[in-house]
Amino acid sequence: MSGANEASVAGQWVASITYKSSATAAPSTGDLHALVSQARDRNRRLDITGMLLFENGSFLQTIEGPPPAIAAVWESIQRDSRHHHIEVLSEHMVAARLFSDWAMLLAGRFQDALPPAPAFPVPPPAVAAHLARVVELALNADDFALNALIAGFADQGWTAEAILSLLIEPAARALGDAWLDDRCSELDLTIALSMLQLAGHAVRYSPSAQTIRNSRYSILLATAPGEQHMLGTALLADQLLAAGWQVDMAFPDSEEALTNQIGAQHPDAVDIGLSDAVSRRQAIDRLRSTIEHSRLVPAEHPTVVSVGGRLFAEAAATALSVGADHARTSLAGTSVRLAELVRKSREG
Ligand SMILES: Cc1cc2nc3c(=O)[nH]c(=O)nc-3n(C[C@H](O)[C@H](O)[C@H](O)COP(=O)(O)O)c2cc1C
Repeated sequence: MSGANEASVAGQWVASITYKSSATAAPSTGDLHALVSQARDRNRRLDITGMLLFENGSFLQTIEGPPPAIAAVWESIQRDSRHHHIEVLSEHMVAARLFSDWAMLLAGRFQDALPPAPAFPVPPPAVAAHLARVVELALNADDFALNALIAGFADQGWTAEAILSLLIEPAARALGDAWLDDRCSELDLTIALSMLQLAGHAVRYSPSAQTIRNSRYSILLATAPGEQHMLGTALLADQLLAAGWQVDMAFPDSEEALTNQIGAQHPDAVDIGLSDAVSRRQAIDRLRSTIEHSRLVPAEHPTVVSVGGRLFAEAAATALSVGADHARTSLAGTSVRLAELVRKSREG
């Protein structure tokens, strides 16, 4: 595929940030109305869309739009004294907007005091509730209900990117936190992550993934040596296969096993995944050594090295410290970014 075509696909992409925060003082319905009305004016000017949910003293907001516009508004939002304890739930590029018709959709319990909202295929207040439901079903190992729920979102028109970044990845992190806080056992966590993985196979990939179908680049998807969790690696395989990559998987138990496999296959790219549920900070030194050794494998073309996992979702700069070329901060859009990196490595 030509660079021009790739650029036109990339050109439609928008930046998207979803965060939650706490109101510093309880806003009245009028206050919220005023906030949203002012936000809509600016969002319209900047081509930003999104939704704002207010419930029980907490905000949940998604803003999506051209990256420079998102950067400017995000800076304002972070400085705003009307809320604090801001926690970013996801931050990434998406191929399609979730809230394309809304300069800022306001939703929440107070809504009876506002004019009725027009019909929307995915009621945005449900995003937070759906996330809680996904976590609950995964912890109960109710794979039947979980698969039906996720398949239902796909039927309603949720994009794969939205399902991954608004539900599955935040659910994995919530489960990791539940384990760290002793609210569930390690076995519960492992089973729940497998449930998410099974449900994640129900996502369907958007036409933008189809347009790079002919790339036929090859990738070795590996869990980091010793890593037990394979949620991200398994879901990435779905995405890359849908985008036409030749995918091999590896679950090496040692660095040597991984470098041997890279040497045997000479893939265009290798992705090494840590847990999506917990941060695994202690794995950094080992991963750095694994990547260093993988770079020593002789090959005609350099292999693009990607890393993924919660550690990188929370601090993308960590990727540089382990010597990788790319870090997945979200699964969404990874196939496109990796194809671009492989293409560039061939040119250079
Ligand atoms: C929870 C919350 C959500 C907000 N959402 C937006 C928004 O989507 N767009 C926007 O322009 N301003 C939004 N604002 C207001 C901005 O923080 C800021 O007051 C406004 O954009 C004016 O920018 P300035 O501080 O640079 O003058 C929001 C504020 C809060 C507290």
